[in-house]
Amino acid sequence: MTPATIVHASQDELAARTAERLAAVLAEAQAARGTASVVLTGGRTGGAVLAALRDATLDWSTIDVYWGDERFLPGGDPERNETLARRELLDHVPVAPDRVHPMAPSDGEYGDDPDAAAEAYAVLLKDVPSFDVCLLGVGEEGHTASIFPHSPAVAETARAVVAVRDCPKPPPTRVSLTLPTIGRAARVWLMTAGASKAEAVAAALADADAADIPAAGARGRQETLWLLDKAAAGEN
Ligand code: 6PG
Repeated sequence: MTPATIVHASQDELAARTAERLAAVLAEAQAARGTASVVLTGGRTGGAVLAALRDATLDWSTIDVYWGDERFLPGGDPERNETLARRELLDHVPVAPDRVHPMAPSDGEYGDDPDAAAEAYAVLLKDVPSFDVCLLGVGEEGHTASIFPHSPAVAETARAVVAVRDCPKPPPTRVSLTLPTIGRAARVWLMTAGASKAEAVAAALADADAADIPAAGARGRQETLWLLDKAAAGEN
């Protein structure tokens, strides 16, 4: 799908409007199927959207929550995306615990083995052919999830979930969905703010090669939406 772009005046406005948009899409899926699914992201913009979602009127009991990537750290570590999501949203809304699907921590049942953690998440996703919405952030050099430029992960097409090592963005070891798995989502929303992202955003929207700008390779089956503030859109 050709990406569409929505530009908001500020990150706060971006977060508030995106939370409203997400609540509407999830409610629509629930009305149609009885359930809905969302893939969460880390990062400042991702966290701001989650905080804004707290006040949404949603039946959280039938929403499945996944992660697009995770920092491979001990459970509860403040740097984990799961910790961010629980702090900003999940601890404040009545989600069904068995519908929250975090990626394994480095001190969990798979031990300090990110490949085993990635494989376990891929096995979980074997029963998940699609997601309603996949939320993604974007890095200054064009990474998304934990898929970085010119990395093994950006070229991965066989495995659904991979371990990522020596990431330029700390912490260095992560677990990430691959681009084909992100592409299982009906809707892929790339959300980013700040002038430092403008170059990567412009390159992605000019159809850059995913190897150079991994965010350019994140496409939904029905919708690919770039949700930006003016600065990330290169507008003053
Ligand atoms: C992570 C995220 C990562 C993040 C981007 C943007 O684990 O760090 O998943 O992909 O979303 O780096 O982060 P900011 O919104 O904080 O710039």
